[in-house]
Amino acid sequence: MLRVLAISLFLLALLVEPILGVKSNLFKNCDQNKFCKRNRHYADRVVEAGKGWTSPYELDMSSIEQKSDSSVINGRIVKHVNDLEIDLPVTFSFLETGGVRVSVDEQQRIDGKIDVYGHDSITPNRYNISQFAFAGPLKLSNDAVFTKTDNGFKVVYENVNEMVVKASPFSVDFYRSGKKQVSLNGKGWLNYEHWRPIEGDDVKKHVGEFEIEDGFWEEEFDSFKDKKTKGPEAVAMDVTFEGYKHVYGIPEHADKFSLRETRGGEGNHQEPYRLYNVDIFEYETNSPMPMYGSIPFMQAQTKGASAGVFWANAADTYIDITKDKKSTTSHWISEAGLLDVFVFLSDTPEEINRQYGAIVGYTLLPQSFAIGYHQCRWNYNSEEDVLDITEKFDQSGTPYDVIWLDVEYTEEKKYFTWNKALFPDPVRMMNKLDQSKRKLVPIIDPHIKNADNYKVVSTFKDKGWTTKNNKGETFFGHCWPGESIWLDPFNPAAQNYWDELFSKAGGFGGGAENLHIWNDMNEPSVFDGPETSMPKDNIHYGGWEHRDIHNIHGLTFVNYTMKSLNKRYGNKQRPFILTRSFFAGSQRTGAMWTGDAMSKWEYLKISIPQILTQGVSGMPFAGSDVGGFFGDPSPELLTRWTQAGVFYPFYRAHAHIDSKRREPYMHEPPYNVTNRDAIQLRYRLLPTFYTAFHDASTKGSPVLKPLYYITPDNERVYDIDDEFFVGDSGILAMPVTDEGAKAVDIYVPDDKPYYDYDTYKVYKGEGTHVIYTPLEKIPMLMRGGHIHVRRDRHRRSAELMKHDPLTLVIALDSDGAARGKLYNDDGISYEFQNGDYVVQEFSVKGNKIQAKNSNGNDKAHTKSFGNVKFERVIIVGEKLPTKSTSATIHQAGKTWSAQISPSQNSITIRNPRMSIGQDWSIDL
Ligand code: NOJ
Repeated sequence: MLRVLAISLFLLALLVEPILGVKSNLFKNCDQNKFCKRNRHYADRVVEAGKGWTSPYELDMSSIEQKSDSSVINGRIVKHVNDLEIDLPVTFSFLETGGVRVSVDEQQRIDGKIDVYGHDSITPNRYNISQFAFAGPLKLSNDAVFTKTDNGFKVVYENVNEMVVKASPFSVDFYRSGKKQVSLNGKGWLNYEHWRPIEGDDVKKHVGEFEIEDGFWEEEFDSFKDKKTKGPEAVAMDVTFEGYKHVYGIPEHADKFSLRETRGGEGNHQEPYRLYNVDIFEYETNSPMPMYGSIPFMQAQTKGASAGVFWANAADTYIDITKDKKSTTSHWISEAGLLDVFVFLSDTPEEINRQYGAIVGYTLLPQSFAIGYHQCRWNYNSEEDVLDITEKFDQSGTPYDVIWLDVEYTEEKKYFTWNKALFPDPVRMMNKLDQSKRKLVPIIDPHIKNADNYKVVSTFKDKGWTTKNNKGETFFGHCWPGESIWLDPFNPAAQNYWDELFSKAGGFGGGAENLHIWNDMNEPSVFDGPETSMPKDNIHYGGWEHRDIHNIHGLTFVNYTMKSLNKRYGNKQRPFILTRSFFAGSQRTGAMWTGDAMSKWEYLKISIPQILTQGVSGMPFAGSDVGGFFGDPSPELLTRWTQAGVFYPFYRAHAHIDSKRREPYMHEPPYNVTNRDAIQLRYRLLPTFYTAFHDASTKGSPVLKPLYYITPDNERVYDIDDEFFVGDSGILAMPVTDEGAKAVDIYVPDDKPYYDYDTYKVYKGEGTHVIYTPLEKIPMLMRGGHIHVRRDRHRRSAELMKHDPLTLVIALDSDGAARGKLYNDDGISYEFQNGDYVVQEFSVKGNKIQAKNSNGNDKAHTKSFGNVKFERVIIVGEKLPTKSTSATIHQAGKTWSAQISPSQNSITIRNPRMSIGQDWSIDL
């Protein structure tokens, strides 16, 4: 009865106007989550014990074994507990793509010698995330040089890096060019909770120094009991970034970009950052609370050096951050799983992203439509509604690419069905959308309504492809449809059936080719579950407890959908999937968004650090609900949000079912006009965004770059999180995020000339400059020395722009020089993987502009998108390179001329007609 009341209250709360904010009591804090409490306590006792104390972990040097190719070193760490010795095999692997992996397992579990009390279906092993999180097998290097030392060993790798291992007490230090960068267990907080008996004489023998026996076998929260069949099994360790004052990453939190300290003090958090994927209803800003996704990757930046750490663990995880004058210490605490850490060292943050991405994969290059503007709300109500919205976008001159359908399109929230009264012929509807190359993205969630006469649910139940409760029976819980089951995405057996459900022949949405998918609620959200999720003692295929895999659950579900969509489209187009829950590796299958933001200015403001954080953590295809989800934004807030959204890699407006209609053309002038203009600007910049996405997809670069990516040695930029660069375009933007703002103070990070994007006014000198911001103004500067590409002709959708001519925009530095790049392909297919793409690199020096195609000049490279030309070259500079009125173009042995017209701080070459498939040059 109580449970039913709780569900009703929860549902009611979701539907009514928000007034209260996050229900923090629905979510555990560190003290309530016993593994966190135990490990914070352990670290505190170690600190109190001071210098005289030694960590009980020791590397057995006689066990050290180096494989012949020197890329892997094996050994065992011994944990001393009273008179027991617990055997923890350790592997150090040196990667060809950069970085070192240190992985620690537990011998008694590998040997299967432990009792999993009463649960034969549960595996005793520790979960290794590699199967789902990694892009493929790791490539090992063979350049690591191993030497034994007095107390341990050292390895020189990547020529300039050195790993120094101390055997007793066990610690690992990483050096670059002789300078210490990262140390593991330097503070002695390594704590590996080994398997132990639940009863008998030995119990006490297993309790180590500083260990509190709290929540070993069971804990309770909010009337939910969590049984720990395998007992305590947390892994924890300190990771210190030596000489680094700023660390970033570990999404998802609604917090500042440069992470705060978490052990109290002014401006600091009291609680550690938590990574536990939850449906955090009405989340708070400036909080370390968990959200929908988790990426346990942290990056650190200081003058001349960058470092990264990937804590490869998918269980509930807390990270405490503390700083001293010089360094930052992170304390990682995970409830279960392997202790598995990757350390990356480099001179640049981009290289850290490349090395990390070499393990978990890079962003799937989106189709061009997917980086256009998306229009969503809960809900568009019928076919008529969808087509009407489309017409109104067209009438108002506002481009859009995708219209979305939330849960109400279904028949009683049964996914793969349509409410036939409202959507009588979905294929007809999609075909109509296709006339202007628009797409439809309906929602499909992982809960499946437990209804009669619903083949999807009966199939999952009959075949046993469901997630199980702790008794091994199908787990039932509540979500949008009422009582539901959850498909078990760890079970590969259901893939074929999932493929069938999406198949073009008779599956969802029939033959339509413009259908893509939204996977929501995949944390998974369970309304009547602990912390609105699944009980941690649920059981998945393979014998994993839910606690082992919780944070990777959302990723595995999207993998299912991705495989099915690739089959549906015969690998002819790149599927688009939006996911709410994510983990390291989710970037390989699509985009994320920051969930249920409120329609308030502070949520607009925090969206920028949220998206920057996603970018540096390897998943840059990110956005926030434009306009906010809960509530009704004022026309001004909607405009400012639509303007900020121009820069969101994933640009989608969305709204709660109870909010008023607010499509961008709905408000009175000037707001409808400012909204339209902002969206049109995004479309003009699509070639620049697509180029930035190409870098994300090939080397893991963020699409929006924090300032320290461009001026890494300027320490003043390390905690700036309201400005950013768009890829390498040199565009520096600072969206307005304050109500009634008349101006912004934009910080210019170096002495290059910066030009206002609209007026070309020059801002010069490192420091703060004022830009006035009437409603229509989006504060954007172009950094001298960069070149970017636009498409200035207005069309209704991105795909319709495919053959349109381009505009080259050159912002000169003080020496009259600039460089830039364009990536282009057909924007749809996987043909780019067969070489069908263009990378054109531009440079300007003196009075010559040059373009070189690094992928060659062969027509084969432009086969699927044709010979796109430039219709304009704009050169912006303090001093312009010519006073001449004509330019000479050279391309493929031919020469012709084009007219130049001057203007304030700029000249424009009109209709020069160079093509993107060829090398060319222009004499000014
Ligand atoms: C929760 C999502 O965060 C929200 O965007 C969506 O509208 C609702 N689920 C309903 O599907």
